[in-house]
Amino acid sequence: MPQPLGGAGRYRRGSGTFQLTRLVAAAGLALLPTVAFAESSSPFTPASPNAAAVTNLFWIIIGIAAVIFIGVEGVLFYSVFAYRQRPGRQASQFAGDPRLEVIWTAIPALILAVVLFLTIRTLYDIRPPGGDPLEVRVIAHQWWWEIDYPNEGFITANELHVPVGETVIVQLQSADVVHSFWVPSLSPKMDAIPGRTQTVWFQALQPDIYGGNCSEFCGIAHAWMRFRVYAQSPADYQAWVKAQQRPAAGAGGPAALGEQIYFSQTCGSCHAIAGTASNGQSAPNLTHMGSRWTIGAGVLDNIPDNMQRWLEDPQAVKPGTQMPNYHFTPDQARALAAYMESLR
Ligand code: CUA
Repeated sequence: MPQPLGGAGRYRRGSGTFQLTRLVAAAGLALLPTVAFAESSSPFTPASPNAAAVTNLFWIIIGIAAVIFIGVEGVLFYSVFAYRQRPGRQASQFAGDPRLEVIWTAIPALILAVVLFLTIRTLYDIRPPGGDPLEVRVIAHQWWWEIDYPNEGFITANELHVPVGETVIVQLQSADVVHSFWVPSLSPKMDAIPGRTQTVWFQALQPDIYGGNCSEFCGIAHAWMRFRVYAQSPADYQAWVKAQQRPAAGAGGPAALGEQIYFSQTCGSCHAIAGTASNGQSAPNLTHMGSRWTIGAGVLDNIPDNMQRWLEDPQAVKPGTQMPNYHFTPDQARALAAYMESLR
């Protein structure tokens, strides 16, 4: 059973995130992000060697900047206080001091050279390790992620399952506009640019669910372009792959009516269900929709009631989504939701 993670569930009233968001808003710090990432996803809790290298560099630079800040502000406050105007005091007048100017040019140049050195060293550190990585093709769409396992032979959406400890190479593409792939705990950001393939890698060090999101404004539903990385034990990962490789389950019971509705409408010209006539490529592959955890790239938890709500009026749930409103009756939407649930 999916745990209530992410999506709307995370904004439960009274939850830690909600309280913190209110506190931040109350403090007037409106520029701070009010969107929390899914569990275990923050650049401050890196869980991949390259993310850790970038976070370490960040802390080193913050440390250097803090020392400079405290030093400069200290001298400033000291000077303002010690040399304030007092009766009988006269400011001395002089123009320039070549020695001082050389010193205050050289010191920042030296500090920047150190930062440059550390940055270049980090760039070397975050090159993908060798070996036999898992390759996944991720294609960004407005507003969801197509996830293609070319060597395993299946396509899914908005969920990237990977074995713990294995290097994963993500070949990143875009089907429309510029998006950006970011799993804060696992990797630096990488833009998805139409007509190009960019590469980003990560190696999840602990089993967990890592939240990811699009981090380049890409249109109205940009904020609901989320995904999750499920880092699993090799055995769990293999079991998941085996399940995904199976053709779609046949529908029975209430799902049969939903299947009939699905194939009597134009659903199949956008969506694909492996092993059926439904082979559209422009919308998420639904072969194993019932096994996924969210609907609409993170907007709702994937339970039949939510699926029904989504099918009755997708725009109301996710404004801007390219899923059209078929004006299904509640009964039709419920039957379709049962069919989706049966696709495991
Ligand atoms: Cu895709 Cu923002």
